[in-house]
Amino acid sequence: MEKVLWNDQLVGRDDVHISIEDRGYQFGDGIYEVVKVYNGDVFTATEHIDRLYASADKIGMAIPYTKDVLHHLIHQLIEVNELGTGIVYLQVTRGYSPRNHAFPTPAVEAVITGYTRESARPMQELQTGVPVCLVEDVRWLRCDIKSLNLLGNVMAKQYAVERGGFEAVQHRGEVITEGSSSNAYGIKNGTLYTHPVNNLILNGITRQVILDCCEEIGLPVVEEAFTKQQAFDMDEFFISSTGIEVMPVTRIDETPIGDGTPGKWTRKLQQAFEAKLPQQLHV
Ligand code: PDD
Repeated sequence: MEKVLWNDQLVGRDDVHISIEDRGYQFGDGIYEVVKVYNGDVFTATEHIDRLYASADKIGMAIPYTKDVLHHLIHQLIEVNELGTGIVYLQVTRGYSPRNHAFPTPAVEAVITGYTRESARPMQELQTGVPVCLVEDVRWLRCDIKSLNLLGNVMAKQYAVERGGFEAVQHRGEVITEGSSSNAYGIKNGTLYTHPVNNLILNGITRQVILDCCEEIGLPVVEEAFTKQQAFDMDEFFISSTGIEVMPVTRIDETPIGDGTPGKWTRKLQQAFEAKLPQQLHV
């Protein structure tokens, strides 16, 4: 039977009891991670767990287990659920206490939940590329925290989906920041451009792997913000995340990018990225 993680226990879904005054439920006061699993092998787990602890630290929350315990629990969850290819979702909230915006004093125990889900790699989209829509980035100014507060992201994605977009690529004024659940990159004249890591974007784990791939394939990287107009004029464009890897973008709003098909650097990056994945693929 499927098990889910509840604090440090693996239990049945129906055995999880979360208070209606859980701060994650009431305030979105918590953080999360999505980790990819390829044929039972977890990918970049250390980086994801490190980022989870970093997010917790940034919101002044203590995770009541060591990183090793969390690693172990994730592995147990994958094993007991016999997860092949899919994701592990993990979230930590500040716990429950009578509703009050200020942190509970004394602090209460954080609440951890997690589950696995089978999901195939998006092979078709990785091959053909996808259209995206530009949306004003109306989120808060701490997008570096992987917060449960995702209303801005949710609204942006919905805007794109309603217009036939695969993803919303957000901009603050003229400057492209990132996707609603992905990072964004353009390639112009053999150089890759992407927003620098600061408070306006999430430092994607996939982004970090991709920047290593750029070095391997000899693609120079400029971590500088670029504008909407520059985005339309890129030779190639792509987005990345744990779930979508290196996803070519063939159209932004009504404008085809390059010749409207995935570009050659993007293809090279896809290959370099794929070479880093656990052995068995195309599952
Ligand atoms: N989202 N930017 C945002 C706003 C994100 O939500 C994500 C990931 C990324 C890419 O990060 P990574 O490469 O570490 O997955 C960038 C996850 C997948 C989600 O919310 O489902």
